[in-house]
Amino acid sequence: MELLIRPTPEHAARLAARMVAERVRAQPALVLGCATGSTMDHVYDELVALVAAGSLDLRGCTTFNLDEYVGLSPDDERSYHHYMRTRLFERVGLPPERTHLPNGVAADLAAEAMAYERRIAEAGGIDLQLVGLGTTGHIGFNEPLSSLMSRTRQKALTPETREQNAGFFGGDPGAVPPRALTMGVGTILDAREVIMVVTGAHKASILATATEGPITARVSATALQLHPNCKVIVDEDAASELEGHTYYRWLYEQEPEWQPFRDDPTL
Ligand code: GLP
Repeated sequence: MELLIRPTPEHAARLAARMVAERVRAQPALVLGCATGSTMDHVYDELVALVAAGSLDLRGCTTFNLDEYVGLSPDDERSYHHYMRTRLFERVGLPPERTHLPNGVAADLAAEAMAYERRIAEAGGIDLQLVGLGTTGHIGFNEPLSSLMSRTRQKALTPETREQNAGFFGGDPGAVPPRALTMGVGTILDAREVIMVVTGAHKASILATATEGPITARVSATALQLHPNCKVIVDEDAASELEGHTYYRWLYEQEPEWQPFRDDPTL
């Protein structure tokens, strides 16, 4: 795991987008794992800006999202299907047939979960998975005690998660669906590369637990410590409780890998 501390949420989003863009340029048919949430809004805005500037083409990519609420149809404006269509897919001309999210209104949710895993496998697996971090320590919707080997399945959301996501439901946590279909922790760990983006002082404590704490099913994001190729991009506010921050900063300043990024003052 590598931790990259940037000054502001904007810098963090730009760096994440720039890394995605680099991977897509090298591999135009990249299988990209997408995440949702307010942190990702900025990452997608940056990707859209790169596409608009003519320096990136996402139309050859295939995408798989982490999760979807159970009971929300793809047309529902509060669904992650809608979120992805309006915030990324339509803005970068991604053909709908190459974008995938779990179907939260499938008649048989267990069968849908298995089919979703199959679709990922048929696409050759996920090359690069974007993830955010929930305040319960979840990645996707893998709430506390999710097996670190779990696969796509239905999961009940904690009251805290429903609270955190209430902004997308008119501010009412009770309006947030109580269940979701989510990739498992094991599904996420199978991605060849993972980029987690975490910003804001309200994430400082859970970020420290997730990256520097012991690996535990109580905090599913700690499983990313096992991933051989995981970058965690954070802003100063989120980094404020990291014990190892001096070393992480030094690495970004020293490592040749980060040279092109260091030379760009916007990142
Ligand atoms: C939801 C998503 C997670 C995401 C989290 C963080 O719970 N299912 O995948 O990481 O939100 O959200 P935000 O970026 O709004 O803090």
